[in-house]
Amino acid sequence: MNNVSHKIPRKSLITFTIFLLTLIPTSQADPNFAYIDCPNATAYAPNSTYNTNLNNLLSVLSSNSNASNGFYNFTAGSSPPDVAYGLFLCRGDVTVAVCQDFVAFASTDVVARCPRSKWVTIWYDQCLLRYSNVSIFSVADTQGGIVLYNSQNVTNVTSFSEVLGQVMDDIADRASSDNSGKKFATAEANYTPLQPVYGLAQCTPDLSDFDCNSCLRNGITSLADSQRGSQVLFPSCYVKFEMYPFYNANFGAAPPPPPPVLPPPPSTTTPSSPGNGGISPQVIIVIAVSIGVAIMLSIACFCLLTRRVKTKKYNSLREETGKSKGITLKLKPEKLLLARLTKSAA
Ligand SMILES: *[C@@H]1O[C@H](CO)[C@@H](O)[C@H](O)[C@H]1NC(C)=O
Ligand SMILES: *[C@@H]1O[C@H](CO)[C@@H](O)[C@H](O)[C@H]1NC(C)=O
Ligand SMILES: *[C@@H]1O[C@H](CO)[C@@H](O)[C@H](O)[C@H]1NC(C)=O
Ligand SMILES: *[C@@H]1O[C@H](CO)[C@@H](O)[C@H](O)[C@H]1NC(C)=O
Ligand SMILES: *[C@@H]1O[C@H](CO)[C@@H](O)[C@H](O)[C@H]1NC(C)=O
Ligand SMILES: *[C@@H]1O[C@H](CO)[C@@H](O)[C@H](O)[C@H]1NC(C)=O
Ligand SMILES: *[C@@H]1O[C@H](CO)[C@@H](O)[C@H](O)[C@H]1NC(C)=O
Repeated sequence: MNNVSHKIPRKSLITFTIFLLTLIPTSQADPNFAYIDCPNATAYAPNSTYNTNLNNLLSVLSSNSNASNGFYNFTAGSSPPDVAYGLFLCRGDVTVAVCQDFVAFASTDVVARCPRSKWVTIWYDQCLLRYSNVSIFSVADTQGGIVLYNSQNVTNVTSFSEVLGQVMDDIADRASSDNSGKKFATAEANYTPLQPVYGLAQCTPDLSDFDCNSCLRNGITSLADSQRGSQVLFPSCYVKFEMYPFYNANFGAAPPPPPPVLPPPPSTTTPSSPGNGGISPQVIIVIAVSIGVAIMLSIACFCLLTRRVKTKKYNSLREETGKSKGITLKLKPEKLLLARLTKSAA
């Protein structure tokens, strides 16, 4: 009897607490990891000169992550075998503040994930960071890239790849001729009137227009164009498309056009919607304080309950939210191979 009366409130309390926790806006979420190219064959020794230069490089990259175009390159050291060359690139629609958080995170995460390699590239959803013992500046590098794709395919591959081809052509040209300091472009077109497709392309801005364009074209040919989303990540450029708006369209490289009269927005679920929909700051404070108090009470009660139940339940719920959040990206070995082959031919 006791058992039963205890179990029900415990369960719902835990659920309630988790629900409250999900309401807390996390201002600096860690960037979503996408892929790392970590060739361990090129190992440096701990405490070597290269190690020291690399640490210096990563700290300089972090402290220059306020670069207005989301890009910075640096060379640490001057005696050839031990020189460390590095750069970061934030996606063109990311604010300087977010870029700073990303670079700070990436510069420690990269070493944790790949402790000894002399050259590494790490990609997240919205930034990349790389370093090498060989100069990597102003060279279009498509080595060690990867193709990621959404496991859902489109209904009519023929008509889809035609629309997608136009979108990607357009942004490859605009991104590579973009001389605003970022080599970045986005575009949107209708696959069907109800199914827009969104594309994004970006190069590191140290590339020439020509090299950027050929890097992007190389990426476009490797995209999985029968799927509902795909991206190709190269060290020097990347291309991506999805059938939902995944970038901040107000952040385009082009100067903002006169505001068009927008139709009422469809009720799609976008990952993050800016603004608070006109709620006054007072109301927000009251809500925040209430939530805070509720959370603290919940946590207090919660701590009195058994630890085991808590951990178990939390993990499984977290897994569920993680899954429902976005699209599953999977590795496609044939495509990866294709990407690597294209590189060596170029
Ligand atoms: C290199 O080493 C790291 C960490 O030790 C490991 O996670 C990674 O899988 C290795 N990479 C390769 C290509 O073996
Ligand atoms: C590297 O240096 C640290 C402190 O300077 C020392 O504790 C550590 O043992 C050294 N590691 C190696 C492999 O020499
Ligand atoms: C970035 O911050 C440093 C100080 O931390 C400052 O000297 C530099 O001017 C800033 N750069 C930009 C582009 O704001
Ligand atoms: C950054 O890259 C350019 C080439 O794009 C190079 O000339 C310059 O020396 C690099 N800066 C540093 C600090 O390494
Ligand atoms: C970079 O490191 C690799 C692997 O250790 C080495 O073979 C190569 O000569 C180095 N390149 C330079 C320019 O130091
Ligand atoms: C979509 O994928 C499924 C499973 O891989 C396959 O059976 C189906 O033929 C594909 N449809 C199209 C239009 O490619
Ligand atoms: C796919 O689209 C093309 C071009 O719009 C059309 O000719 C073809 O009939 C469509 N195929 C299917 C299976 O709907």
